Amino acid sequence: MNHTDITVQGQTDFAAPRITVIGTGYLGATHAVCMAALGFEVLGVDVDPPKVAELAAGRVPFFEPGLPEKLREVLDAGRIRFTTDFDEAAAFGDVHFVCVGTPQLPGSHGADLRYVDSAFTELARRITRPALLVGKSTVPVGTAARLRELVREVSPVGEELELAWNPEFLREGFAVEDTLHPDRLVFGVASPRAERELQRVFRPLLDAGTPLVVADLPTAELVKVAANSFLATKISYINAMAEVCEVAGADVDVLSVALAYDDRIGGRFLRPGLGFGGGCLPKDIRAFQHRASELGAGQAVAFLGEVDGINLRRRSRTVDLVRELAGGSLEGVRVAALGAAFKPNSDDVRDAPALDVARMLYLEGATVAVYDPEANANAHRVYPDLDYVDSMDAAVAGAEVTVLLTEWDEFRHADPGVLGRLAAARRIVDARHALDVEAYLEAGWEYRALGRPMIGAPTALPQGGGVAIAE
Ligand code: UDX
Repeated sequence: MNHTDITVQGQTDFAAPRITVIGTGYLGATHAVCMAALGFEVLGVDVDPPKVAELAAGRVPFFEPGLPEKLREVLDAGRIRFTTDFDEAAAFGDVHFVCVGTPQLPGSHGADLRYVDSAFTELARRITRPALLVGKSTVPVGTAARLRELVREVSPVGEELELAWNPEFLREGFAVEDTLHPDRLVFGVASPRAERELQRVFRPLLDAGTPLVVADLPTAELVKVAANSFLATKISYINAMAEVCEVAGADVDVLSVALAYDDRIGGRFLRPGLGFGGGCLPKDIRAFQHRASELGAGQAVAFLGEVDGINLRRRSRTVDLVRELAGGSLEGVRVAALGAAFKPNSDDVRDAPALDVARMLYLEGATVAVYDPEANANAHRVYPDLDYVDSMDAAVAGAEVTVLLTEWDEFRHADPGVLGRLAAARRIVDARHALDVEAYLEAGWEYRALGRPMIGAPTALPQGGGVAIAE
């Protein structure tokens, strides 16, 4: 194998493999840049020429705090390049990370593996010396074993080509931090050689004390979907409690705070509201169910269907609250929709609850002015019919109902008095439970939130209301 010296914290201490990263989306671009930041020589590969050109010019084609600065740093240091050329990638790399997307198949809950299959085979056909291929994409269990056979069949070097799986747990918005300081590393391997090679690649993180779990290929694949399923279940659990609170006249925010004090439960991912979206959680729980059914274990994860159902009901229930505040009909009502991204600090609108709610309001006849600090352009591409404006004030101006859909700091910290003077009526649905209820009530707003009792005036605020919920 080719090796270059790696300098970690100023010390040349071990020979390092050269790394390629195939697929430069949210996951791949971050991984490529962070590997270069750790001192490796990296080649980023993508089939999309404009994306490659952007990255090569030092621009990150999506919103991820901290990533543009890191990209420029490693470009300046000459440790990263980008290409569309698979021949170049095959010649360059000792370890190839595959980070392409596995979207939901149209008309099915299964995952579309065409990009993964193609990345592995295109590389394998061209690799003419011993190398390690590492999958990072989230795939149905069994994929890695199948691909291991396949790449060895098509590769000129056969068994000299090894395959491993290394699931990625990064969160958008914290991608750099999560990649450089992961809470654990998982190596899915089928040979000691693969494990040794992964140890060399992740040595800087392992030396820094990152816990390592070494597993076989199917277990490593399952860790990722099991983790995402657990997180989705936790969110839907508290949102199911919100549904019960709604009919019982109880307050889910207070309930959540009380549950969170139990260390065994914990407060993270127990924030009630509009529920989960994004490019991972929704499609991963569906693909997991689909795959488990194929394997004859569908019953074991049938509850994920409920998790999905609870999550989607939060969206229609948010529309109900807006309609109620509008007086029973949305026809011709002007609504300010604050947020489109699936969560703050992201411009990602894949399966975004916010955008879904804005669309449902529009389909019921409302005039919807959408403002998101970063996701307007992506949202416009998906739903061009909505009216996108370029400031929070412009969205709220003349609104008969305002609905907070993504909890950006800009929205959380807005002054309810100032907003009230812009709006046609002071009525707000806080779909993310992110606002200071008392401040809004004091400024004369009618306030509604899922799973909280109706609050019309400051005196009606229940004891414990407005307590901040831990993430
Ligand atoms: C997720 C996993 O966290 C990450 O480990 C995995 O690698 C990819 O999928 P991400 O999609 O970036 O990461 O988003 P995350 O921060 O997990 O949030 C997912 C969704 O859940 C968001 O829509 C968020 O608004 C929602 N959420 C989160 C809640 O509704 N309540 C909570 O308490 C937490």
